[in-house]
Amino acid sequence: MAPHREGSEASVEAMVAQVEKHPISTILIIIEALPVVNKFQLIENPHSSFPKGVPWIHYHGAYKDITINLIWPGKDLTFGVDSVGTISASLVTYASIQALQPDLIINAGTAGGFKEKGAAIGDVFLVSHVAFHDRRIPIPVFDLYGVGLRQTYSTPNLLKALNLKTGKLSTGDSLDMSPHDEASIAANDATVKDMEGAAVAYVAELLKVPAIFVKAVTDIVDGEKPTAEEFLQNLAAVTATLEEVVTQVIDFISGKCLPEL
Ligand code: ADE
Repeated sequence: MAPHREGSEASVEAMVAQVEKHPISTILIIIEALPVVNKFQLIENPHSSFPKGVPWIHYHGAYKDITINLIWPGKDLTFGVDSVGTISASLVTYASIQALQPDLIINAGTAGGFKEKGAAIGDVFLVSHVAFHDRRIPIPVFDLYGVGLRQTYSTPNLLKALNLKTGKLSTGDSLDMSPHDEASIAANDATVKDMEGAAVAYVAELLKVPAIFVKAVTDIVDGEKPTAEEFLQNLAAVTATLEEVVTQVIDFISGKCLPEL
């Protein structure tokens, strides 16, 4: 007799297997910039199921055989600037997955790069692993929980087809880098540094949605120029590059099943 399994366990497995066998139909893009909206002629959903009053904006549309959902975290309600960082990213990711049940998440955005690890301005990385660099808990096992190292959903064919660079991403809630952060980033073996990726990965894992991370380098962290100045100087050009690569990623995904990526 076949071993008895709990119904819910069997049905989750069956669902995952189903999704893996069918072409990807719904994607969720969590992105810090908006040009992709115009590129795919996405329209704002005025009836999103997000709580009333949150700044998160849901754009959607169809491209080839894929339903594209793009969530822009929007402007902070108090300070009027873009909502960056892990708190906003976690909430947006959670609410978006609940609302949209995507087959795949693409977190796209800017990052600082380390030239010592091979990063240059304008490079776009398809991230292999994510971890945090500002959650230091020096107690056994809590230390590992704080760092939260996670492998991203593996997409070797996508990496090869688009000829992107790959490397590890380290996430923290600061644009600058304190000496403590620097040591943790080195321990994480990171090539790029951002303010959202590991938080998106945490929620994606929690809710069992595969996630990939496309990060474009606006500033060189181990370079000569002050980070904020270099970031602002390169933001427009690098955002255009990011848009191009996200378009190529969507084109590649179109018509494919998850294991083909
Ligand atoms: N996004 C762009 N540049 C960054 C940096 N240096 N640190 C964190 N996030 C970034």
